[in-house]
Amino acid sequence: MKPVKVGLLGLGTVGTGVIRIVEGHQEDLSSQVGSPIVIEKVAVRSMDKVRNIAIDSSKLTDNPLDVIRDPEIDVIVEVMGGIDGTKEYILEALERGKHIVTANKDLMALHGSEILAKAQEKQCDVFYEASVAGGIPIIRTLIEGFSSDRIMKIMGIVNGTTNFILTKMSQEGASYEDVLKEAQELGYAESDPTSDVEGLDAARKMAILGTLGFRTNVELSDVSVSGISSVSKEDILYAKQLGYEMKLLGIADRQDEQFSISVQPTMVKKSHPIASVNGVFNAVYVYGEAVGETMFYGAGAGEMPTATSVVADLVAVVKNLKLGVNGLKAIVPYKVKKLKSDEE
Ligand code: NAP
Ligand code: HSE
Repeated sequence: MKPVKVGLLGLGTVGTGVIRIVEGHQEDLSSQVGSPIVIEKVAVRSMDKVRNIAIDSSKLTDNPLDVIRDPEIDVIVEVMGGIDGTKEYILEALERGKHIVTANKDLMALHGSEILAKAQEKQCDVFYEASVAGGIPIIRTLIEGFSSDRIMKIMGIVNGTTNFILTKMSQEGASYEDVLKEAQELGYAESDPTSDVEGLDAARKMAILGTLGFRTNVELSDVSVSGISSVSKEDILYAKQLGYEMKLLGIADRQDEQFSISVQPTMVKKSHPIASVNGVFNAVYVYGEAVGETMFYGAGAGEMPTATSVVADLVAVVKNLKLGVNGLKAIVPYKVKKLKSDEE
């Protein structure tokens, strides 16, 4: 059985988890797809950094182009983050016929249309399950599980860092600065945590969920955003006394041909299931005309939960490779009818 060769861009929190799962679950993965999956090359920024995973140094490069341009590599797993530069790498990889798995919500929220259109042109897969809600398979659920329904509302906690901060401030009276530092040390926060605490990370995720759920092209400018940096311990304790928990909620609503999407700190009644989603956990509530209420819950960030979604995407790409159907089943929701945003 010829191995499927994978190029990994990034060996930080998520990249490390990807190697752990690909190596640790190799027997099970290869029996599912019919051949071994091999991480052939890995791009990092610093060649000298001490890693918390053993890696053959001959696989490392500090030039992502060495990975993308390797003719032996079939699939690129992009977990280095960033927008400019990263977008060009992905477009070049697609141009070369390589399939993409990415955890990069920033890139998909801003340039998803262009990337998916290129993938369709080149008959390549682009999967991005880990870009929203870490280990919860919400993207697959919206695309496949609810293909028969008309989604009217998507609401939830989609940023683990801010939920971790709000939970510790509420339950332990911890300081905002100390908990943010802890979230960074645990690998939950973005390299620039401003995007977590100011709600931008959640807004990008809500733009992706809105696009997929409402089957329209949601732009980031369609999402009104406010983060948690100005929420004080007193606000949280006051909300608690009144019977509420403070949560950073993403809310996407659809009414006929119009939609609205926002991200903001919200007082959630303690009796609502979302109020008891704590720590790094995320929850996404989806209301469909036919299905009614549904809710999905799990770890929203961190090494292994996020890598679970990345490697599941990798398995999907390799299964498609075996069937020769990469790109053929692609759904490009970014190209469908434009509903009107109430921000317009
Ligand atoms: P991270 O820990 O900061 O790791 C980033 C990795 O990319 C590092 O190994 C870094 O190299 C490498 N890198 C960065 N720029 C590079 C460049 N120009 N050339 C080559 N290598 C480069 O980030 P992460 O937390 O794993 O997140 C990665 C991606 O997954 C981001 O898009 C993030 O938004 C997304 N994501 C993260 C989580 C999470 O829980 N952390 C969850 C879902 C999605 P060095 O190691 O040498 O610095
Ligand atoms: N920084 C993000 C979060 C990582 O805390 O949710 C997962 O996307």
